Amino acid sequence: MIMHTILVLHGPNLNLLGTREPEVYGTLTLTDIDARLHELARRLGVEVRSVQANGEGALIDALHEAREWASGVIFNPGGYTHTSVALRDAITAVGLPVLEVHLSNVQAREPFRHHSYIAPVCVGSISGLGWRSYTLALTYLAEKLSERAT
Ligand code: DQA
Repeated sequence: MIMHTILVLHGPNLNLLGTREPEVYGTLTLTDIDARLHELARRLGVEVRSVQANGEGALIDALHEAREWASGVIFNPGGYTHTSVALRDAITAVGLPVLEVHLSNVQAREPFRHHSYIAPVCVGSISGLGWRSYTLALTYLAEKLSERAT
């Protein structure tokens, strides 16, 4: 049986989770969220590797490198969601299935957060469910990848 490995890619400012606007993003730190993802991955029979970067270039490099080893990507691009053509192009270029996730409900926030450059090139988007946006994305990807493998 193939053991799928999934990249969990966290964008800018997500390293500050826990102290960053907890009323919007919750009180868990990025380490807490990654720990929950690793635990869930174990139960689902997949592996996750987490990367956080504040720079657009580093996120693009992480997507390029994932071509070599990942079966799919869970991506919270943070503020770049609403600005970055380059990240969108990277997703298209690597051809991996990418799920867009957001902790907060971006549609219920400022108008500039309503548009995502990333969403049209992703498999789907999960927004507003706090840290569970990530765990639900992982459950979906693990199930979907195992279907493909059989
Ligand atoms: C975010 C939403 C973005 O609009 C914001 O810029 C972030 C976090 C979220 O997870 O809710 O940095 O991606």
